[in-house]
Amino acid sequence: MRWGIVGTGGIARRTVGDLRATAGCEVAAVASRAQANADAFAAEHAIPRAFGDRDAMLQSGEVDAVYIGTPHTSHVEIAREAILAGKHVVCEKPLAMTSGEAAELGELARGHGVLLLEGMWMSFSPAMRRTLQIIDAGEIGAPRLVQAGLGFAVPQEARRYWDPELGGGALFDMGVYSITLACLVLGKVVGIEAVGHVQDDGVDLESAITLRFEDGGAAQLMTSIVSFIPPRGWIGGTKGSIDLGERLFSPASLRVAVGRPPAPPEIRDEAFEQEGAGYVPMFRGALEAIGNGWTEHPLHPHARTVEVLRTMESAQALLRGAG
Ligand SMILES: NC(=O)c1ccc[n+]([C@@H]2O[C@H](COP(=O)([O-])OP(=O)(O)OC[C@H]3O[C@@H](n4cnc5c(N)ncnc54)[C@H](OP(=O)(O)O)[C@@H]3O)[C@@H](O)[C@H]2O)c1
Repeated sequence: MRWGIVGTGGIARRTVGDLRATAGCEVAAVASRAQANADAFAAEHAIPRAFGDRDAMLQSGEVDAVYIGTPHTSHVEIAREAILAGKHVVCEKPLAMTSGEAAELGELARGHGVLLLEGMWMSFSPAMRRTLQIIDAGEIGAPRLVQAGLGFAVPQEARRYWDPELGGGALFDMGVYSITLACLVLGKVVGIEAVGHVQDDGVDLESAITLRFEDGGAAQLMTSIVSFIPPRGWIGGTKGSIDLGERLFSPASLRVAVGRPPAPPEIRDEAFEQEGAGYVPMFRGALEAIGNGWTEHPLHPHARTVEVLRTMESAQALLRGAG
């Protein structure tokens, strides 16, 4: 699979090595809004083709799939162009700024027979797959509660986080992980409460969100770009719990506690190796889906992307006092 990377910023630098390290994947090209940036990135990462025009890369016969690593608000347009050009797409999170746009992109990908995958690497991480296995095996009983958080004090120089035009704020950037975890474990959201701080320009600084789920479960999630929140989560079930060790998006460990009170719970720790920077399992999943002719991957299907975005939209409206 010959991949073209769109964008030459922070995340592209982090994922390029993992893309290349994934068996069956080749990094064939990079596209930037500026030829000089594309040339520099290609030289630094030994990529054969550098495009100063994204469209030229998308129309190129040298690329089969694209990885989109640009700011949130540009995702939909680039993903749509790529799908229309017949390319498979892995696009950074969040896939879109609205659930409607994400749903439309999913339909478009289905219609064109190409993969569309939001870059939710957490769902492909070995620890998360193991978590679902433990839950499916009934070890912790029925999952009822999730608590998760992720946040750090983002410096002002990291412009993307502070710019409303680029989808700035904590919720869509970091909250997306906690909300995805909650939906992954508890299913469909039927109630939302949110408190937090939003700047006058609409950028959300921090929030505490409570979700209620169709099956009666609940989640409490925190996110921030002004304070540090340990990147962790836990799941409470009717027979036990799973504590996801740091870091939430690619946990290195799990602590499973199972017991029947008043006896103390039996505790088991499991550790996980991270492949590369942690993105290899996701790219391997993309390759698996493409090989099978799937337009979405069952570990992170379009419906989950849409559900999480629907939840973030509602939380954002509540935070802005419009919900
Ligand atoms: N999965 C993860 O672990 C992870 C971590 C960090 C970020 N992300 C996601 O990756 C995305 C990019 O984040 P980042 O931190 O890499 O951002 P960034 O460094 O600010 O920007 C990425 C690149 O996108 C291009 N770009 C900038 N503005 C653009 C625009 N308006 N339209 C099109 N392209 C534009 C630029 O490349 P050119 O100048 O070459 O065009 C820029 O270098 C975000 O959606 C974020 O959520 C994911």
